[in-house]
Amino acid sequence: MAVERTLSIIKPDATKRNLTGKINAKFEDAGLRIVAQKRIQLTPAQAGVFYEVHKERPFYGELCDFMASGPVVVQVLEGEGAIAKNREVMGATNPADAAPGTVRAEFAESVGENSVHGSDAADTAAQEIAYFFSGLELVG
Ligand code: CDP
Ligand code: MG
Repeated sequence: MAVERTLSIIKPDATKRNLTGKINAKFEDAGLRIVAQKRIQLTPAQAGVFYEVHKERPFYGELCDFMASGPVVVQVLEGEGAIAKNREVMGATNPADAAPGTVRAEFAESVGENSVHGSDAADTAAQEIAYFFSGLELVG
C-alpha cells in the first residue's frame, strides 16, 4: 500500500474539552505521523467553503456554526493507507455506531459534534490539505 497524506481536523467540541493530546495519541498509536499541525479559529464562512459538498444537506448551517464555535486543530496525517486508516481510527460519523476504541466512540458528543474530521478519498484529501496548508508547512 502506498504512503498517503490525509487532512484531519480536531473539532471545537474536542478542543474545548482539552482532548487534542489524547486524540493525537490515537493517531500516532495507529502508525499515522502528524506531518503538519496548527490550531486556528475558523469563521462560519471559511467552514462553509470547507464543507461546501454538504451545502444542500439540512445540517449544513448548524455544521458551519459549530465548526466556527471555537478553535480547531487542523493537521496532515501521513502513513501507509493513511486515508482509510484515519477513517478507521475516527470511527463512524454517529458515535452510537462507532466501534469501541475509536475516537468518536470515546469522545464524540453527538452525530454533529463528533470530535474529528477526516478526508474520505485521495482527491478530497489533496484538496482539503491545500485549503489549510502550503507545501512548505508539510514536513514529513
Ligand atoms: O465526518 P464524516 O465524513 O464521517 O461525515 P459526513 O457525512 O461527511 O458529514 C460531515 C459532518 O457533518 C459530520 O462529521 C458531522 O459533524 C455533520 N453531520 C451532522 O451534523 N448530521 C448528520 N446527520 C450527518 C453529518
Ligand atoms: Mg465526510
